[in-house]
Amino acid sequence: MPTPEFRGAAEHLCASAELAERGLALVFDVLQYGEPVRAFALRFDGRVVAYLNRCVHVPTEMDWQHGVFLDGDQRFILCSTHGAAYEPLDGRCVGGPCGRGRLTALAVEERDGQVYWYPSRDIRPVSFDAPGPRGEP
Ligand code: FES
Repeated sequence: MPTPEFRGAAEHLCASAELAERGLALVFDVLQYGEPVRAFALRFDGRVVAYLNRCVHVPTEMDWQHGVFLDGDQRFILCSTHGAAYEPLDGRCVGGPCGRGRLTALAVEERDGQVYWYPSRDIRPVSFDAPGPRGEP
């Protein structure tokens, strides 16, 4: 269940079956403080987790190839730029130049065979702030 600081309505992400255990992540676009940023969701130890695709060391995207975030042993999320390693289940830095940092998590929920994420005050769906077809908010 989402934590209380997450307040937006559930945003559908994908079918549960699309996220294989320690497999390819689903990469998707969000807005952080109104700016476009990529996020990703992957399954690890049966749980779906999601983070902004932004390294703590330097704010850059981390995947080796599109959707490939885990290291060769499929144990840690690894930044392809300088090798920072993060614990997949909580985003905590466990090695490399990310210090005591932690990836920015998105609240996710899996129910009825589907995966959802929850916007927060700072992280919103791309469509959230987009103007309507006639320019209305
Ligand atoms: S940018 Fe990720 S480790 Fe340096």
